[in-house]
Amino acid sequence: MILMYFGNLVCLRAVQESDFDLLVKYFNALEIRRFLGAPIPRSRVYLEDWIMKRGSSDPWKDGLLELSIADKYTDEFLGFVHLEDIKKPHNRAEMGISIHNPEHLSRGYGTDAIRVILWVGFNILGLHSIYLDTMEENARAIHVYEKVGFKRIGLFRESEFLDGRYTNLLFMDILRYEFQEANPEFTVQMKIQSP
Ligand SMILES: CC(C)(COP(=O)(O)OP(=O)(O)OC[C@H]1O[C@@H](n2cnc3c(N)ncnc32)[C@H](O)[C@@H]1OP(=O)(O)O)[C@@H](O)C(=O)NCCC(=O)NCCS
Repeated sequence: MILMYFGNLVCLRAVQESDFDLLVKYFNALEIRRFLGAPIPRSRVYLEDWIMKRGSSDPWKDGLLELSIADKYTDEFLGFVHLEDIKKPHNRAEMGISIHNPEHLSRGYGTDAIRVILWVGFNILGLHSIYLDTMEENARAIHVYEKVGFKRIGLFRESEFLDGRYTNLLFMDILRYEFQEANPEFTVQMKIQSP
């Protein structure tokens, strides 16, 4: 029995071995990888080791909470979302997300998963501020981040190498009360159930 956080479309739960097949299958999909750093082919061994380490991290000891995103109704693995660089006493953390199957993009999963992890960050971890960075070209991600209440706070100019050229990294953040103002009806259900 494990604890899960339920939103409207997704649940966030601990990373589990049954997620690995879909992780490996879609990790190298260019549509997913393009805005996530250098697109380097990764082996199954590398990916399993990488996600097991991240998935078994402790938010307080290691400053990282990495969770799987799964379909709320079928439990199909959809991707990962995390809060990292969790800093006390500032109560600040960095968020990151990826939906893994290109066919699952733009179906509302990402928006819901971001709302759930922000709710968890503010209401379970007691955070005050959550920030992120994204390449300026990542229009879908920026649209979603602004929809849930993130604000643009600045540019790290020509700091990312994308498609053979340098591009800007956009920094965005959201404060606890801004999340509540932007998503007044949103809440998370916590349930303990079999994975
Ligand atoms: C960014 C990401 C998490 C968003 O999740 P998602 O499930 O695809 O997004 P949603 O379906 O919840 O919402 C998509 C929204 O973007 C809009 N959109 C789609 N393509 C767009 C584009 N090219 N430009 C602007 N908006 C776009 C959709 O219309 C929708 O908006 P709406 O709900 O107001 O109609 C997901 O696309 C993803 O994982 N991408 C690959 C990895 C990545 O880029 N991660 C972020 C790194 S910073």
